[in-house]
Amino acid sequence: MNAIPALAPLLSIRGLQTQFQTQLGLVKAVDGVDIDVEPGECLGVVGESGSGKSVTFASVLGLVRPPGRIAAGSIRFDGRELVGLGRGEMRRIRGKEIAITLQDALTSLNPSLTVGAQILETLHEHDEGRGARGLREQALEIMALVGIPAPGTRLAQYPHEFSGGMRQRIMLAIALACRPRLLIADEPTSALDVTIQAQVLDLLASLRRELGMTVVLITHDLGVVAQYCDRVLVMYAGQAVEVGPTRRVIADPGHPYTRGLIASIPKLADPDFRIRPIEGNVPELVDLPDECRFLGRCPLAISACRTRIDMRDLGAGRQARCIRAGERQ
Ligand SMILES: Nc1ncnc2c1ncn2[C@@H]1O[C@H](COP(=O)(O)OP(=O)(O)O)[C@@H](O)[C@H]1O
Ligand code: SF4
Ligand SMILES: [Mg+2]
Repeated sequence: MNAIPALAPLLSIRGLQTQFQTQLGLVKAVDGVDIDVEPGECLGVVGESGSGKSVTFASVLGLVRPPGRIAAGSIRFDGRELVGLGRGEMRRIRGKEIAITLQDALTSLNPSLTVGAQILETLHEHDEGRGARGLREQALEIMALVGIPAPGTRLAQYPHEFSGGMRQRIMLAIALACRPRLLIADEPTSALDVTIQAQVLDLLASLRRELGMTVVLITHDLGVVAQYCDRVLVMYAGQAVEVGPTRRVIADPGHPYTRGLIASIPKLADPDFRIRPIEGNVPELVDLPDECRFLGRCPLAISACRTRIDMRDLGAGRQARCIRAGERQ
């Protein structure tokens, strides 16, 4: 039998270190992250606020601004190194190859431009000689694709004239205007109520199928990952702490932090379920000692955890950063 050749990852991040020089010292917001994103998959990225999710994926598109900088590592997209690319080269990739929707739809849309103008701006940047009418038609098409009713009228309106859910759809329309191969959606629904949130996530899932797109979905909600993502990357204090196929990770988490996140997913079917938030706080990301970063909050901590902990392979595409990973709990 011939072996099936593994597909090359679409995005491959190795040893990424992104840091901010602050008055308190050097903040190591992303400290040695390795992750591959496979073509066609939806990778969920989960972790508490401040764990480095946004900075990791802002680094991919060169969106980290001083005092932040990529201090080390490699980010390859379809085999091409992105770290160190000039602005012009990055602009050609952004939108056309990789698009990102930022965490806050309200502030990332320009309040003084109509949504039509903002969609056209993206289309113009990558214009391949379609002319004004062709671009407008494309803008209408993409508005319809993301489920905005009466797109002809809506194109001439300003962001404040749209509801939160509709603004999120516009963000998606702008991101998808040039049919990127990879979409990075950073907390696309965290500001929305639950019903609207489900509508936007369902839309994202169907667009992904329709356009054959690869998606990185950043969220602090493991419940969202469980429902929409093939694989999950769990981040804690600037590091990847667990990676694997979503179902297996949730059925049998390898890292105590992942276990804590699972315990904090509300179970709608069980009215008596009490969310158990993980006690304690994420450590400050300045001058961290060489020991497990979860030590102060970990119910399984032992003295051997007071050393540098690397990712361990657990087999079946799974890894966890814990010396006790794989022990039956
Ligand atoms: N502009 C900045 N200046 C200083 N530190 C920053 C800045 N942006 C992010 N950070 C640091 O990076 C850490 C990770 O941030 P972020 O990636 O936004 O977390 P997440 O998206 O997981 O909530 C934060 O805890 C913060 O300490
Ligand atoms: S290495 Fe030790 S402290 Fe860290 S998560 Fe594992 S058991 Fe807990
Ligand atoms: Mg974030």
